[in-house]
Amino acid sequence: MYEDRILNAAVREKIMSADEAASLIKENMKLGFSGFTSAGYAKKVPTAIAKQGTAKNLTVITGASTGKELDGELAKAGLMGRRHPFQSDKDSRNSINAGDTKYADIHLSVLPRMVRQGVFGEMDYTIVECCMITEEGIVPTLTVGATNALVENSKKVIVELNTSVPKEVYGMHDIISPDEGKPVAITKPTDRVGLPYIPCPAEKIAAVVINEEVGATPVFKEPDEVSSKIAEHIVEFLKEEVKKGHLPENLYPLQSGVGAVANAVLAGLSGAGFKHLSMYTEVGQDSAVDLVHAGIMDSLSTTAISLSKEGLEKFYANFDKMKERIVLRPQDVSNHPEMVRRMNIIAMNTAIEADIYGNVNSTHIIGTKMMNGVGGSGDFARNAAISIFMTPSLAKDGKISSIVPMVTHVDSCEHDVCVLVTEQGLADLRGLSPKERAELIIEKCAHPSYKEELRNYFERAKEVSPSQHTPHDLAHCFDMHQRFLETGSMQK
Ligand code: COA
Repeated sequence: MYEDRILNAAVREKIMSADEAASLIKENMKLGFSGFTSAGYAKKVPTAIAKQGTAKNLTVITGASTGKELDGELAKAGLMGRRHPFQSDKDSRNSINAGDTKYADIHLSVLPRMVRQGVFGEMDYTIVECCMITEEGIVPTLTVGATNALVENSKKVIVELNTSVPKEVYGMHDIISPDEGKPVAITKPTDRVGLPYIPCPAEKIAAVVINEEVGATPVFKEPDEVSSKIAEHIVEFLKEEVKKGHLPENLYPLQSGVGAVANAVLAGLSGAGFKHLSMYTEVGQDSAVDLVHAGIMDSLSTTAISLSKEGLEKFYANFDKMKERIVLRPQDVSNHPEMVRRMNIIAMNTAIEADIYGNVNSTHIIGTKMMNGVGGSGDFARNAAISIFMTPSLAKDGKISSIVPMVTHVDSCEHDVCVLVTEQGLADLRGLSPKERAELIIEKCAHPSYKEELRNYFERAKEVSPSQHTPHDLAHCFDMHQRFLETGSMQK
């Protein structure tokens, strides 16, 4: 059985049930997992570990977030002692915010190097979803993430062979472990410099578990009025930049974050008359792959293809075209500052809140509660040619203004934010002093119901501030947040 997917006979002998594989995992172990967003994470083995419930205090390291069968089940079972570098599951978030899981939220481009440096110690097992095991190594499914670094630095590997993924995926990956000190010779999204598999000797594989199911897929949210308006402002801005000769007609390669707003922006680009677009990004969600289907995007380099059920069906139905135009890379290559700078990436990421000077909080709700993590936003924002942050101007049905006097946590600072956009308008902050930024952000981005309070704050700050470069009324810069905590609304 599985001769066409497991090419080494000795590895075929290691096929076992998920329960048998899960029983190899003991308390306090360090586990690497493949996976990045909803793509490419093992499902049966973590679910079985959670069900057995004995392996407490696990350190869990992945490429980025995963789905409910991994983050959700392990967190609910109370087994997740430590978690790096990113998550977005509600149960894992609850465990982090309750103080039960120790979470270090790490830039995604940096994580593989930390794994190789031994910052977390050697992994006891790395559990990898793949679509084929060759004589040389493992062919992942629709992601690479940090899997190559984790496999390299693991005592043993457990493989979950997912037969719902066609083995023809072989050839989509371009896997290298960047050698510090040497350039990575990628100058355009479809360049290939590595191997189509993750090297792994047969002896390192401790178990193979067969999974025939697709698993959870994300639900594609149709753009609403607010996200469509944000998209409109960005498209208009990009068109103006082309008109002024600041950008080529097909733009520079794009990076886009995940979520409804990011989806809307890419959907907005599809009807805007752009041609021959490209992406150098970390996640290809439905809207990005749709641009490839539509012939608007020529090439897409990413570390994960994360599609809804319908998106996945369409992807496989047009697989030859997809394979020709899409390359899957490790996250320390997809998010590498060197390539982001070299290719002049246009980065578009979502903020939770931004302040009047352009500092962005992407991770913390009212300063203390972890949402997801910084993910790759910092990798791209710092090094992009144009770094755009977007957010609806209001949250929680208008009880929160996303534009505030001072952010309660900083993930991307004013130096990394070129453009700030809400559905109200777009503020191009490049070359502006802090006071000019404040005026523009309040005018263009704040919701009318909070504009007056923000203007008053800025005027008062100028009166009471001992210095006038970035004026602040330090005793009152969190009044709006405090009011929300006390009354449930920032509105007066
Ligand atoms: N204050 C308090 N809460 C806020 C808020 C604010 N200013 N703005 C948003 N929120 C809350 C929302 O109400 C929602 O809460 P809920 O889950 O209880 O409903 C939650 O934050 C998420 O907001 P949502 O509007 O659903 O946004 P999203 O799905 O577009 O995600 C981020 C927005 C910022 C959380 C998400 O983009 C993220 O995690 N970014 C960091 C990582 C990243 O940028 N990666 C990019 C490379 S892929």
